[in-house]
Amino acid sequence: MRPSTVLLALAAGIGLTTATLAPVRIQERTLQYVVKPKVFIISMFDPEGEIWWGIPEFNLLALNITVPGFSPLFQDAHCTANGDVCQLITGESEINAATTIASLVRSPRFDLTSTYFMIAGIAGVNPEVATICSVTFARYAVQVALQYEFSQFDIPTNFSSGYIPQGSTAPDEYPQSIYGTEVFEVNQKLQHMAASFARNVTLNDSDAAIAYRANYAPYATYAAGGRSPSVLECDVATSDVYYSGTTLGETFGNTTKLFTNGTGVYCTTAQEDNATLEALLRAASEKIVDFSRIIVMRTGSDFDRPYPGEAATTNLWWANQGAFEPAVQNIYIAGIKVVEGILRGWNSTFAAGVKPDNYVGDIFGTLGGSPDFGPYVYNNNPIKKRGISAMGRRRGSQVMRKGQH
Ligand SMILES: *[C@@H]1O[C@H](CO)[C@@H](O)[C@H](O)[C@H]1NC(C)=O
Ligand SMILES: *[C@@H]1O[C@H](CO)[C@@H](O)[C@H](O)[C@H]1NC(C)=O
Ligand SMILES: *[C@@H]1O[C@H](CO)[C@@H](O)[C@H](O)[C@H]1NC(C)=O
Ligand SMILES: *[C@@H]1O[C@H](CO)[C@@H](O)[C@H](O)[C@H]1NC(C)=O
Ligand SMILES: *[C@@H]1O[C@H](CO)[C@@H](O)[C@H](O)[C@H]1NC(C)=O
Ligand SMILES: *[C@@H]1O[C@H](CO)[C@@H](O)[C@H](O)[C@H]1NC(C)=O
Ligand SMILES: *[C@@H]1O[C@H](CO)[C@@H](O)[C@H](O)[C@H]1NC(C)=O
Ligand SMILES: *[C@@H]1O[C@H](CO)[C@@H](O)[C@H](O)[C@H]1NC(C)=O
Repeated sequence: MRPSTVLLALAAGIGLTTATLAPVRIQERTLQYVVKPKVFIISMFDPEGEIWWGIPEFNLLALNITVPGFSPLFQDAHCTANGDVCQLITGESEINAATTIASLVRSPRFDLTSTYFMIAGIAGVNPEVATICSVTFARYAVQVALQYEFSQFDIPTNFSSGYIPQGSTAPDEYPQSIYGTEVFEVNQKLQHMAASFARNVTLNDSDAAIAYRANYAPYATYAAGGRSPSVLECDVATSDVYYSGTTLGETFGNTTKLFTNGTGVYCTTAQEDNATLEALLRAASEKIVDFSRIIVMRTGSDFDRPYPGEAATTNLWWANQGAFEPAVQNIYIAGIKVVEGILRGWNSTFAAGVKPDNYVGDIFGTLGGSPDFGPYVYNNNPIKKRGISAMGRRRGSQVMRKGQH
């Protein structure tokens, strides 16, 4: 259903004299109004959201739509008057992200079947791969903390880390107990297109960030951390735990590689993306969103670990990394190019969709196809879906039994 101009104006609260209509009627008619966004920007907290407001390109505050199930702090979706571009703020961490997105996809106010979703937030950054203030576009999102954890005070001395994949007994053993949210893979062709829209911009930076970054430059492993900010394609880790330091950074770098069967490169860490992706995936399996229309953009607001010789706590708490504000600005500076690129190319390219040439979806193959990671490899057989869940349950229960001893 497309909005009529009248309903649009009513919903936006502009233009018309509504005095002749009874309030109830207005409400009813407003409720019929279905917004069909071309782009939906997903922000996670206020600074990421506000950077898109008051910009010259479009006004996201023209149309506010209250969506039941959103965070009490961020109850509205915000849209342009014509509904082409919308935005929401999930609230931070996995539970907020999953609940908000799950609520959005069920909202009768939106038709999201052809919408491009762009997760656009800041993140911790791995200096082995990228630097603060950089803009990154991910192919994989990995729920790295979905593992067993031992305190460093309790782990056997021959373990390199306290994190062990669930159902496994060594850090480098593929998880045996699979929940399904471990790894998400998004459309790589769209990832490349989004990165190329963004690649030409002049990114914001600060003197403090330039100075801090220079501390990493002398070390070969951290050469990327020492370079000027740029636009990169590399992967995002999701963890409710805001981890920090070299050991956990390396641990989750290994986890990303392990879970993605060697393909994923851990470069940023944030608290939401897998949760957002899981909610979108479940909606995609009912065809109310298109999982090949997702872009995961994260900008580096701080290093996930110190430079050699610096304490992990100094890096996290006391050092002036100077990157938070530039990273927030770069969400807009790079992200606006992606939004404009999609709008500009809508008729020629994006309305019909960008056909992925990689696997997209989760570790179970819920949306069809065979994941290029994880143990579930199916050759397009029609009972695939059933087979997968049965196998998931079977494996899960074996491990459960083992765990219950
Ligand atoms: C939408 O909400 C924002 C605050 O969240 C407000 O500033 C703006 O005026 C609202 N827009 C309309 C049309 O009411
Ligand atoms: C640690 O040592 C124990 C006992 O020798 C062995 O069973 C285990 O596999 C080792 N674990 C790792 C991760 O090396
Ligand atoms: C989070 O996303 C990543 C990559 O898309 C995926 O590997 C991981 O399984 C997801 N985890 C959860 C809990 O959804
Ligand atoms: C990128 O920037 C350069 C110089 O700033 C300009 O000449 C070129 O046309 C731009 N390319 C695109 C695709 O915008
Ligand atoms: C970054 O943004 C700030 C605030 O808008 C501005 O003062 C500064 O000149 C910008 N720096 C660069 C390198 O663009
Ligand atoms: C990461 O993996 C490498 C290679 O397998 C290993 O040498 C290293 O100890 C691992 N690091 C951590 C913190 O587990
Ligand atoms: C895209 O197509 C629509 C409907 O056919 C048309 O109204 C619109 O002007 C076109 N937009 C551009 C940018 O060509
Ligand atoms: C991924 O690696 C695991 C274990 O390392 C293996 O069992 C699985 O078959 C691999 N999956 C793919 C798709 O290569």
